Amino acid sequence: RSAPLRISVIGTGYLGATHAAAMAELGFDVIGVDTDPTKIAALERGEVPFFEPGLPELISRHVETGRLSFTTDLRAAVQASDVHFICVGTPQHPSSHAADLRFVDAATRAVAESLGHDGLIVGKSTVPVGTAARLREMVAATASPAVHAELIWNPEFLREGLAVEDTLRPDRVVIGGASPWAEERMRHVYGTAIAAGAPFVACDLPTAELVKVSANAFLATKISFINAIAGLCEKADADVSVLADAIGYDARIGRKFLNAGLGFGGGCLPKDIRALMHRAGELGAYSAVKLMQQVDEINMDQRQRVMDITLSALGGSVLNARVAVLGAAFKPDTDDVRDSPALNVAAALHLRGALVTIYDPAAGPTAKRIFPTLSYADRMDDAVRGADIVLVLTEWEEFRAADPARVGALVERRAVVDARNCLPAESWQDEGWAYWGLGRLGTASAAEVGSRVKAA
Ligand code: UDX
Repeated sequence: RSAPLRISVIGTGYLGATHAAAMAELGFDVIGVDTDPTKIAALERGEVPFFEPGLPELISRHVETGRLSFTTDLRAAVQASDVHFICVGTPQHPSSHAADLRFVDAATRAVAESLGHDGLIVGKSTVPVGTAARLREMVAATASPAVHAELIWNPEFLREGLAVEDTLRPDRVVIGGASPWAEERMRHVYGTAIAAGAPFVACDLPTAELVKVSANAFLATKISFINAIAGLCEKADADVSVLADAIGYDARIGRKFLNAGLGFGGGCLPKDIRALMHRAGELGAYSAVKLMQQVDEINMDQRQRVMDITLSALGGSVLNARVAVLGAAFKPDTDDVRDSPALNVAAALHLRGALVTIYDPAAGPTAKRIFPTLSYADRMDDAVRGADIVLVLTEWEEFRAADPARVGALVERRAVVDARNCLPAESWQDEGWAYWGLGRLGTASAAEVGSRVKAA
């Protein structure tokens, strides 16, 4: 190629902001586009409206180098670039389990309408299978016949907290529906990752769309599998943590995503498995529907399970009990509370009349915006002081490392529910704590729990 490829990124949320910054880091000229002028102004100052290690620095650096800029003017951005990544959100539809495709549709149409020269439109958003083929027809009908416009799909697998790393060094590059012209451009864009050994999977459009949702569905299934086994461990007085280590040594199984506990949440896994369930139903793939329904149900049951343990530990009622909730984020090292199991349990206890105080090392302010009626502490000590029970609902390092003797001196009663199996149980028990994990150390069935705490 003669001139270097220039890139536009449509949508500067989590995915788009990270992708734009990573592409600039790889040496491309990148323009990030969003409809929200406040967001654009903030990004230009290197401010990111969410917590993602390394991202603000990366954005600031490349706004400085001039390789990265932001605008609300989509048409100008598209006309100044050659490859256009669609990175807008596909939230759960307000009235069903389906994905809401309004933003993807609008962004793709706007790019197609704006093309002034040959353009490659690359969908990155997570969409129900079949969407890309439909968008491709829309692009063909919308773009000027004078230009070559092509739409392909390139799913994204980034994890929150590791978004920059995952984008710069992906495990694999998946490209669906690319012509030789488009594939050559993609091999150029992802040249660094490919040179570093990332497999390049070229496939058709529906396969690329399904790779993404299947990867998330599999991860969710692993978590619900181990949570189902945790229930069995409780009945049998077995320990699911030891069990997970032991089965995880089998390379076919692997230890990752086998941590039993409160289950999965966040902006992706829950909505993606529901969207998959919905789409599979439309297509008549009922085995996939049934499997995903079970995965979702088991996951939601874990929240109830933690409620039940807490209720029993408090002698059958949480009314006016002082409950210290440690953790609000859906996982550690993020301030994201979207579909957070921790916040869900905290809110449910509050509704039942418990006096809940939440502490989270990062997610307090975001949680407060959603549930302003709950009480928040700025420090862990303030949350646990005078508590009748302590619930660890997100496995932050600060909680793992907490000294059970020091925490014990602050609480009213030494009772702890470790809903992420992340505490050293024996050290807590040695300090006189009644301890409940999920599926470990003979956590009794809910009915037996009450008698145990009285004895403690
Ligand atoms: C996920 C996928 O990992 C990523 O590839 C995809 O692109 C987006 O969705 P993310 O939502 O950032 O990423 O979170 P992840 O680290 O996957 O954790 C998801 C949830 O599963 C969290 O609530 C976590 O607490 C829970 N989890 C994870 C478990 O309950 N047990 C485990 O063993 C692992």
